Amino acid sequence: MGDPKDLRDQLMEKVNEVKEHFKEALAELKNLEDLKRIRARFIGPKGEVSELMKSLKTLPKEIVRELGRSLNQLKEEISKHLSELEKKLGEEILRKRLLEERKDLSVRYKPTYTPSIHPLTRIMRELKEVFMGLGFEVVEGPELEEEYYNFDGLNIPSDHPARDMWDSFWVRPGYLLRSHTSPVQVRVMTTRKPPFKVVSLGKCYRRDDLDPTHSFQFHQIEGFIVDKGITFAHLKGVLMEFASRVFGGKRKVKLIPSYFPFTEPSAEVAIDCFRCGGKDPHCPICKGEGWIEVLGAGMIHPNVLSNAGISPQEWTGFAFGMGIERIAMLKYQIDDIRLFYENRLDFLKQFSA
Ligand code: PHE
Repeated sequence: MGDPKDLRDQLMEKVNEVKEHFKEALAELKNLEDLKRIRARFIGPKGEVSELMKSLKTLPKEIVRELGRSLNQLKEEISKHLSELEKKLGEEILRKRLLEERKDLSVRYKPTYTPSIHPLTRIMRELKEVFMGLGFEVVEGPELEEEYYNFDGLNIPSDHPARDMWDSFWVRPGYLLRSHTSPVQVRVMTTRKPPFKVVSLGKCYRRDDLDPTHSFQFHQIEGFIVDKGITFAHLKGVLMEFASRVFGGKRKVKLIPSYFPFTEPSAEVAIDCFRCGGKDPHCPICKGEGWIEVLGAGMIHPNVLSNAGISPQEWTGFAFGMGIERIAMLKYQIDDIRLFYENRLDFLKQFSA
């Protein structure tokens, strides 16, 4: 064994060499596999650092202590350095992979016409705006409805002849596709406390054959107010405002006596012709009559209120309901209800803004 001092220097030299090797190896590192290999080469059980450690075994104590310390330090440094690199590399690889996998899903599509909103959607948005502007709240009800809400709660018991008029598609006993939006009245009245000021829009179904003005599936909007001291005058005021805002100008409203089991008194409501004002005998809108019937309405029947647990002595209200297709047909001069459902481009194109 030579001079311990020389030995120490030699070993120190070797430690420095290892450091140098490590630096060189890092310069070549490209991926996680390289990193694994480097880790094994330097600090693995048979790595350069470990081999040096082993070679200390037979040396004098002072050298072992000193070199042992610097070797441990080196091992720790290498390990820390590699862990940091590993983390960074991992993130980088992930980022790259994500970038590669980010396929361009956009298709350069040039429509051959300006896309448009379906006329029914358009009129429904407009109706909502109008009634919200008048302070109404918009509420939704189910299309698959319980018999009670569609009929009994509306003062139409099972033996009532008016059931024929609202006959619909029964899904199973007690459940049907609603034949009007009036059941929403009962749903609101039975679950909440008055006052109410509500509109509800949606699909309805009836056992009707298709023709230019009938469809087994159509849309309605229902509106109703329940409060203290509500009268027919309030109903007329709301309807005049609705007609003027939807059809333009200052519209007149005519209330024609009618019958609905859930309103008393009841009315068919007509507005004066927004196209000719009754002056054109050949008007395509009013056919020269000057008036267009657009909806049904009335004061909510006391039985409907009391069925729902609301005292008719304390509260009164009005309700109205109309076919949305009818409003759209009048406003946009569409002469066949079937056009709404056929998705024909030549029809839909006409509604691009
Ligand atoms: N529900 C009635 C119908 O579908 C319309 C209506 C609603 C009438 C509210 C009066 C009050 O024909």
